[in-house]
Amino acid sequence: MPRPAFKNWITHVQTARTEQLLKYAAQSEVISFAGGLPAEELFPAAELEEAFQTVITEQAAEALQYTWAEGCERLREHIVAQMKERGLNVTAQNIIVTSGAQQGLDLLAKLFLSRGDPMLIESPTYVPAIQAFEMHAPQFLPVARDSKGIDIDALRRGLLQRDPRLFYLIPAGHNPTGSVLTREQQRELLAATSGTHVQIIEDAAYADIQLDDNSARSNPLLPVELSRILYLGSFSKVLSPGLRVGWIAASPEVIRQLALIKQASDLQTSTLNQLVLARYFDSNALKDQIARCVPFYRQRRDVMLESLAAEFPSEARWTKPAAGFSVWVELPQNCDTEDLLTQAVGRGVAFEPGRPFFVTQKPRNYLRLSYSNLPPEHIRSGVRRLGEVLKRAVSQSKV
Ligand SMILES: Cc1ncc(COP(=O)(O)O)c(C=O)c1O
Repeated sequence: MPRPAFKNWITHVQTARTEQLLKYAAQSEVISFAGGLPAEELFPAAELEEAFQTVITEQAAEALQYTWAEGCERLREHIVAQMKERGLNVTAQNIIVTSGAQQGLDLLAKLFLSRGDPMLIESPTYVPAIQAFEMHAPQFLPVARDSKGIDIDALRRGLLQRDPRLFYLIPAGHNPTGSVLTREQQRELLAATSGTHVQIIEDAAYADIQLDDNSARSNPLLPVELSRILYLGSFSKVLSPGLRVGWIAASPEVIRQLALIKQASDLQTSTLNQLVLARYFDSNALKDQIARCVPFYRQRRDVMLESLAAEFPSEARWTKPAAGFSVWVELPQNCDTEDLLTQAVGRGVAFEPGRPFFVTQKPRNYLRLSYSNLPPEHIRSGVRRLGEVLKRAVSQSKV
């Protein structure tokens, strides 16, 4: 049979071998730090059950019917209230409900990117965002990001030399480093981009998972006029990724265009799930839910950091995440984390090799460890096993 002619398809993120190992790790006894899933213990199952029942009992005709591409009015009003708490004054005209923040990335890429367009993007960054943009073959202008913040000179250079229209940024809860830009860095970044044509896609998926300092939560890059910001929100991290509900906040003009693209893509996000969430928010349960999540993930992060300090080779460096679900680890340059994954899985532990998180130059000596979905005793024993593998690899690399 001839191969089907796939149009414009993206390259694979992981090598086939890595994909196979991570799939195996997820289904076996292997302790897997890959994936970065929320903890199931925190899903508000009882509250959502009640909300589902009420919606089906009282609003079945509406809940089981089609709705507008922009989303249900009731949920959009709740999102408006939540955005106000985060420091942004918006109305429902500024909001479109999406099937997770991931669809937000896809819709924005479809609206703004054509082949060869220069776009600024942090490197490393969230891999499925790279995938969503890559479908449109832009020219990536990487802006290095590490635990200390972004490379502001690279940002200025990119703005000056290529006049890009988009900058994808995760100011707080950066995936994979877990870092949060300080107020000073945010001001510097906004000053650098002011007066240019660039719009900032501000990915706030982890805005509510601030593990150290909650004050950053109220003000990611805001308040800045929505003409410069395309804001992405998500209910996946504090409530449930299975509901697939997120949103974009942008100017009404952008929202109208996005609604057309969304219509072509999936018509709308599940009416039932939107109304269930609106009902859940009616009960004011979100604040308590966030208050449950933060210390829970903080404890796991702390166990991870203590274990790394005790078990990892002294040549390794890692971030101390202030938000989000993962730690980003750097090994000596001649260590290849894709090769090391085979050995690690043999020892009963898995991680995410770091190469796909970079957009252009792709170093092989990084890896991501997620602590969000593992109980403390598994974090400890997983880090112990991985520490043994890495110590051996580092000592062999010196020979
Ligand atoms: C930085 C970042 N943005 C967006 C998403 C997508 O989230 P959602 O489940 O809302 O599509 C994720 C999920 O891991 C993420 O880490």
